[in-house]
Amino acid sequence: MFPEDLKPPVWVLRMGHRPGRDKRVTTHVALLARSFGARGVLVDRRDERLHQTVEEVVKRFGGNFALRSGVSPKREVENFPGAVVHLTMYGEPLRWHVKELKGEERLLVVVGAEKVPGWVYQKADYNISISQQPHSEISSLAVFLHELYGGVEEELSFPGAREVILPAKKGKKVISLEAPPLSELKKEEGWIPDEKEALRILVDVGTPPAVISHCLAAMEFSKDLLARVSKNVKIDERLLLVGSLLHDVGRSRSHGIDHGVIGGELLRGLGVDERLAKVAERHIGAGLDEEDASRLGLPPKRYVPETLEEKIITHIDNMLADSERVPLSTFLERMRKRGLEKVARRALDIQMELETLLDIKFDELIG
Ligand SMILES: [Fe+2]
Repeated sequence: MFPEDLKPPVWVLRMGHRPGRDKRVTTHVALLARSFGARGVLVDRRDERLHQTVEEVVKRFGGNFALRSGVSPKREVENFPGAVVHLTMYGEPLRWHVKELKGEERLLVVVGAEKVPGWVYQKADYNISISQQPHSEISSLAVFLHELYGGVEEELSFPGAREVILPAKKGKKVISLEAPPLSELKKEEGWIPDEKEALRILVDVGTPPAVISHCLAAMEFSKDLLARVSKNVKIDERLLLVGSLLHDVGRSRSHGIDHGVIGGELLRGLGVDERLAKVAERHIGAGLDEEDASRLGLPPKRYVPETLEEKIITHIDNMLADSERVPLSTFLERMRKRGLEKVARRALDIQMELETLLDIKFDELIG
C-alpha cells in the first residue's frame, strides 16, 4: 500500500518555521508526515537545507513526497480545496470528529510553532486537540495521522526506495535495492526476474516491510532446502527461489484469502512468467480446490499446487510464522481449530510426498 492509496489525502502546513532555529523540528514534521502517509508539507519560510534533507530521505527511502517552502499560510488556508484542520491543545478532541474527517475529500493539517495567529483558529474547519496539555506538534501530527488512517503506517511502502528497513527482533535489518525502479525494468512476456528484480517488484508494488521479511525468510528456507537435496532431483532453482520471494506479492493489496489470486494477476500484469504467477495463485493453505474456491468467493478455479516448486513453496510457507520457521504441527493445529481438516490433511500429504521425493526431513530444517 502506498501513501497515494490513502483517503483522504493529507497535506501538512507548518507555520512559524524559523530557518536555522527550527530546522530540526520542521524536518521532523516533514519526515513524520511522510512516514505516516501524508502527501506533502508546506512550510511558510523558504529553507534550502530543509529541501536538501527531505530530498535525500526521499531518494534513499522512496516515495513521492512533496515539499514546498516559502508559502503564504493565509493564501494556502483560504484557497485549499478541502477541509482545514488546525492541531491545537485548545481544540476539540479528535475522537469527536475522526469519522467526519475520514469522509472529507482532502485535508490540510496546520501545525504551528509556539504562537499561532488568531485567524487560524477562525478559518480552520476543525480545531482539533490531541490532548489538552502542552506537548509537541510532531506527536500531535503522529497521533492524528495514525487515527485518521487506522494505523496503516507500518503497512506503507515507498516505491523506488534504495533501502528498506525490515522489522527485526534485535539489531537492524536493512535491505539495499540494487535493481532499478520497476518502471525501468524490462518486462517482457515470460520474464523470470532475478532475486534483485524480484525484491524490486515487491517494494515497488507496495508490499509491506513485514511481508517482504516473510518472503525473504521463505527464500532462505528454500536455499537451505536446496543445499540438502541431491542434485539428481530436478528442481528449477531460480523458479523456486524467485517464487519463494514473490509468492506473497498479492499481500501488497490484500491480506485476505484472495491475496493468492491477486498476486497471480499482478505478476501476469507485469509480464512475469506464468509459472511464477501460478506459484502465487496456488500457495494458499495447502491449495484450494474448486469447492473451496467457490465457498471462499474466489474466481472458480482449482488452486492446488501441482509442480514440485509450487509444492515446496506452499509447504515452506506453512512452516513459517511470519519470518520464523515452525513445525508443521503448528500450522495443522491452527487449521484444525478453524475446522479446516481438509487443508490439514492436504498439507500432511504434501509433506509426506516432498520428504519422500527429496529425501529430507522438513523438521530438520527448522534449526
Ligand atoms: Fe500467502
